[in-house]
Amino acid sequence: MAQKKKEILLNAFNMNCVGHINHGLWTHPRDHSLEYNTLEHWTGIARTLERGLFDGLFIADIVGVYDVYQHNVDVTLRESIQLPVNDPLMLVSAMAAATRHLGFGVTVNLTYEQPYLLARRFSTLDHLTRGRIGWNIVTGYLDSAARAMGLAEQIAHDERYERADEYLEVLYKLWEGSWEDAAVRRDKAARVFADPARVHKVRHDGRYHQVEGYHLAEPSPQRTPVLFQAGSSGRGQRFAARHAECVFISPPSKEAARQTVQALREQLVQAGRRPDDVKVFVGAAVVPGASAKEAQEKYADYRDYASREAGLAHFSASTGIDYARYGLDEPIDYGKTNAIESATRTAEQQGWTRRKLLDLFELGGRYPAIVGDAAQVADELQSWIDETGADGFNLSRTVVPESYEDFVDLVVPELQDRGVYKTAYAEGSLRRKLFDAGDRLPARHAAAQFRHRAGEA
Ligand SMILES: Cc1cc2nc3c(=O)[nH]c(=O)nc-3n(C[C@H](O)[C@H](O)[C@H](O)COP(=O)(O)O)c2cc1C
Repeated sequence: MAQKKKEILLNAFNMNCVGHINHGLWTHPRDHSLEYNTLEHWTGIARTLERGLFDGLFIADIVGVYDVYQHNVDVTLRESIQLPVNDPLMLVSAMAAATRHLGFGVTVNLTYEQPYLLARRFSTLDHLTRGRIGWNIVTGYLDSAARAMGLAEQIAHDERYERADEYLEVLYKLWEGSWEDAAVRRDKAARVFADPARVHKVRHDGRYHQVEGYHLAEPSPQRTPVLFQAGSSGRGQRFAARHAECVFISPPSKEAARQTVQALREQLVQAGRRPDDVKVFVGAAVVPGASAKEAQEKYADYRDYASREAGLAHFSASTGIDYARYGLDEPIDYGKTNAIESATRTAEQQGWTRRKLLDLFELGGRYPAIVGDAAQVADELQSWIDETGADGFNLSRTVVPESYEDFVDLVVPELQDRGVYKTAYAEGSLRRKLFDAGDRLPARHAAAQFRHRAGEA
């Protein structure tokens, strides 16, 4: 019997702001990103994605502003480079009410949040979405954020991950260990909501966090939300190997992606997990057309509205390097960075100068554009999966919502015809859909050791 083909996973990549990754496209006449302040904008997107059987909507977030380029926020404000940016979690309830299956991967920076409160926010959303919530764990990379929160500068790169490891331990205790499954009785006749013997006080007295208390929420479908992560540095990968279930990468080439995916899968095994315990999503910008010619024309039209300079200002913040200080062809001193280490190292290895970056940012951002008719796009997507060992894509928005509608109407049927994309949703939680297993984290995940075991104090 022929082996079943690997199904491609799809997330839409978005953010609760005007300009996300492909900068400048909000000025396109057909773009609706200026409506990001309305619920209708988001529920409309969610419905379109669900029509296309997308696995999830991944919502980025940033705390702090992009003030590295030219040492100010002028370009950031003029081009609306992720500023203003609204709270991403607030969008989820409305979108969940408008859909039944779509998952939501929401970014929250843990550096500036108390674990006790964050645990409750995610449990609440796991209840309200019936197990469709995921958390993209980030630790931040901006000094502007640190200063806004009362620190002189941000915590050093590797220490951010040390803190995050401990933070996750606190969350696992709350989500997995505080309430036993049998704790909740809801028994009106007996006047017992919960059995006090089965609800446990969590104690954590660590290097960075001290918590003593009961988790405020009762057990939700997934308990721990599906854990997303995007760090690609050595330390970032170790963190992912221990905690993550989905990892986002934005590699400069298929070969770079293949190496990253392979290294991650090896680290998973070292961490006592299985190589396919993590789904890897590659960042891409897709511009599909009804014909190859139409796609190229659309791409040319989009490019007219893109802002390469805004892309450069964004990348300055990602790497911590002010490209405005350099001539167009001057070599860049990449040196040590406290921002996104993997982005900086990629830029250094590729020898990216200001001119090369401006050339690269055709759509205002650094994701490779895949342009073509349905067959061409599907060929390219499949080759990424086959050659890199990744599992799916994180599709950055271009012109909204038309880029989603085009993808759903043109590319999804082609992928389905090829047998590499689902034709219906599976039932159940986001974790169950992604891994075809249970709603809860498997016993081999680090969280499992914090589950309450009967008989233990
Ligand atoms: C695809 C992708 C998406 C990311 N999204 C966010 C985000 O929304 N907010 C954020 O603060 N950092 C984001 N980051 C940054 C990462 O969370 C992380 O801080 C960064 O990759 C630094 O990790 P590293 O130095 O280990 O590579 C993203 C990174 C990638 C590759």
